[in-house]
Amino acid sequence: PIIPLRPLLETVSKYGFAQGAFNVNAVAQAKAVIDVHKMFRSAAILQGADLANGFMGGRTDFANATLKDKQIGAKRIADAVRKFAEEADIPVVLHLDHGKDFDSVKAAIDNGYSSVMIDGSSLSFNDNIELTREVVKYAHARGVSVEGELGVLAGVEDRVFAANSTYTNPMSVVEFFRKTEVDCLAISYGTMHGASKGKDVKLRKEIAIACTENLRHEGIFGVLVSHGSSTVPQYIVDEINKLGGNIQNAYGIPISELKSVIPYGIGKINVDTDIRLAVTRNMWELFKNRPELQKSESIGAIYSSLCEKNNQFDPRAFLPPIMDTVTTGIIPNDDVAAIVDCV
Ligand code: G3H
Ligand code: 13P
Ligand code: NA
Ligand code: ZN
Repeated sequence: PIIPLRPLLETVSKYGFAQGAFNVNAVAQAKAVIDVHKMFRSAAILQGADLANGFMGGRTDFANATLKDKQIGAKRIADAVRKFAEEADIPVVLHLDHGKDFDSVKAAIDNGYSSVMIDGSSLSFNDNIELTREVVKYAHARGVSVEGELGVLAGVEDRVFAANSTYTNPMSVVEFFRKTEVDCLAISYGTMHGASKGKDVKLRKEIAIACTENLRHEGIFGVLVSHGSSTVPQYIVDEINKLGGNIQNAYGIPISELKSVIPYGIGKINVDTDIRLAVTRNMWELFKNRPELQKSESIGAIYSSLCEKNNQFDPRAFLPPIMDTVTTGIIPNDDVAAIVDCV
């Protein structure tokens, strides 16, 4: 079944582990993530970002997605995930990642998401609290969990370039939880979105430690969320580049760093980039192994696009030629099926 995030956070907090949260942009990816979690007999957290909902709503220029596109996309992914979760018989959380405003969050909740993030991190502290509290009111009344964010991650955050990150101030975390009643909080402590996080990143563990200590001291329940946590496996980047891609300056968060923060209250670890890289690699490999597909009527345009945008690794830049499959899950022919296997 689909469950809210809250009970999973309580389990994570009680036993001191962390749960991965994986971004998807297509129905086939949701199925894959659920299948892997079933293998490990684990609950799963699936995330659709705000723009992912727009994309799954059929909007190929997803950066311009309207509320209507997001509503359609949210319903499509929620309907599919509900079915996959029943079949797999594991608990699955369907979480909106980086919800940008109240209406986008409402679109997700009204169409079947069980958990939402409201990202007010670019607002002032007080405006962030106000928006987040409004979302919590709407969400909690419907049994939906809420993640907030305090602090700004370096790099591409919500498509606004923040040259310098603003680390989360542990002194403000208690007030944020008290006033908003969120279930968990994304913090800025040295991670970064995307594939260029810098070599040998060291996380500012003391920030996580202080946030968690302050919450415990006040008797407030709250789990910390680590965004921008892809490890960017070098072998995947090397393979992409060997097959014709051109991904430079690619470094992720070392897995040892991620493991080291789990004891300090980091209970949800967000991964998107690693999945995008893997899909991109798979597509390059498919066209190399089966060159006849480079000219296929249904997927040849994907190959041209891979070659043209060879420094790109967002599969949404390549998937539009099979958009119907992305949005409906219906696979019209074998060539398209081969691409769906890559996803
Ligand atoms: O943290 C951001 C996620 O990677 C989602 O990215 O807004 O391009 O879907 P997106
Ligand atoms: P990555 O870009 O490191 O995968 O981060 C994903 C993320 O934080 C999604 O919210
Ligand atoms: Na943000
Ligand atoms: Zn994020």
